Amino acid sequence: MDEIIVVDYGSQYTRLLARRIREFGVYSRVESPENVSVMPDTVGIMLSGGPASVYLKDAPQVNINLLEKGIPVLGICYGMQLLAKVFDGKIARGKTFEYGLTSVETFDSKIFNNLPEKISSWMSHGDTVQKLPEGFILTAKSENGIIAGFESKEKNIYALQFHPEVSQTEYGNEIIKNFLFDVCKAKQSWRIDDFVEAKIKEIRKTVSNSKVIGAISGGVDSTVATVLVSKAIGENLVPIFVDHGLLREEDIAVPKVLADIGIKVKVVDASKLFFKRLEGVENPEEKRKMIGKLFIEVFEREARLINAEYLLQGTIYSDVIESAGSSSFSSRIKSHHNVGGLPDLMHLKLIEPIRELFKDEVRDIGKLLNISKEILNRQPFPGPGLAIRIIGEATPEKVKILRKVDHIMLEILKETSEYDKIWQTFAVLLPVRSVGVKGDKRTYDYVVALRAVDSLEGMTASWHMMPYEILRKISSKITGEIPEVGRVVYDVTDKPPATIEWE
Ligand code: XMP
Repeated sequence: MDEIIVVDYGSQYTRLLARRIREFGVYSRVESPENVSVMPDTVGIMLSGGPASVYLKDAPQVNINLLEKGIPVLGICYGMQLLAKVFDGKIARGKTFEYGLTSVETFDSKIFNNLPEKISSWMSHGDTVQKLPEGFILTAKSENGIIAGFESKEKNIYALQFHPEVSQTEYGNEIIKNFLFDVCKAKQSWRIDDFVEAKIKEIRKTVSNSKVIGAISGGVDSTVATVLVSKAIGENLVPIFVDHGLLREEDIAVPKVLADIGIKVKVVDASKLFFKRLEGVENPEEKRKMIGKLFIEVFEREARLINAEYLLQGTIYSDVIESAGSSSFSSRIKSHHNVGGLPDLMHLKLIEPIRELFKDEVRDIGKLLNISKEILNRQPFPGPGLAIRIIGEATPEKVKILRKVDHIMLEILKETSEYDKIWQTFAVLLPVRSVGVKGDKRTYDYVVALRAVDSLEGMTASWHMMPYEILRKISSKITGEIPEVGRVVYDVTDKPPATIEWE
């Protein structure tokens, strides 16, 4: 399967670029600048944009060896400036800033095949290439007279200052396609079915006769990853469902739901261990790291029992970027437990077969693998569970309260069919008590926050406009049935600036 490597310099558009390429039928893989590994099937390399300035001390660089393999390269924005720097062109720092729609004149180049001479492009840069590197020719110029593209046919290297992957750029898709098909001669061999076949083969080859422990939560990602790997290696995969005591009511039923689709899981009750180690832990990142560490401890213990060498995780691409795993240059937002929380010294080797994919691609694979709609349409639930929805220390008593709150909320949302309109919904227990009155008596009870968001991939989200009557129903039932809760509030914050989870 021909593939394009997208080297991630931290641009917010990197994933879009990777996605676009796959939409055109070519497999793409996102790599950090430090970890680029070229394969025999690599037919092209793209260097993404990024927030840095190439001359800064810690600015991420590009290895010249990568550019001299004869594999076509396209540098975009920061990627273009890197190319200019590495081939001895000149860059002016922060002198002419272009941001937003900018008209660009294009000259004769394969990547502008069948395009008009002038296009409107999306620019976002503070540094500009002032002098082309030797042996390169100008291929595009902006309305401000700034170098907007250059190339060397001989070296097979192309560069653009603007972002073709952004929908605002006119003919952006054509430019990407020209690079893929005219320059790289990529074959359109990426189809989800082929991906599944190729992955199965790859897993068989990697794992051979070793045993694999599977981390399964019952969510879409881990279930799809498990079914995929079980197709590859059958009983050499042992899926483990860890009950860390931080599950919602609906998660407790997961092993049965999975058994119905033929996945037999081993349930490990580790709740005592988790609560003990979470004693006194209040800081969200510490909590996440502790939980990640405990998961691994449990898996390592289970692995020893069957002599397993590998751990399977259903990590997907958004987990990787939010934990700043794809590039050391994007900023860490939080450590998603299945990526950032892993201790450095893990004795198990990791298998992450869907690490490159977006949620909807994972769902497509799930459909292909005949996984039931009930599982594929499940809302996401974070690995650290209710611990990151209890602000402050997560104790068994607080989990009990939150579990009841969450169950009431979900039940009413499902009854009223509002559930299907929401991307993710849950409740958060706050470390705040507030005064109230129940049955003529003063109360001083917990406050819970309800959250519901609309989103596509969880990277951005808008708070869900929940009908008032539903909110009232949920609120009255919570305060009516749970004595420890005296007040209910609704979170009306988008992501950004907030994240979806409170911690
Ligand atoms: P945030 O809070 O980062 O959440 O806006 C984005 C999406 O990711 C889920 N999430 C996690 N999933 N392990 C997971 O498997 C984690 O540690 C984790 N943290 C957040 C979150 O529920 C939302 O869907």
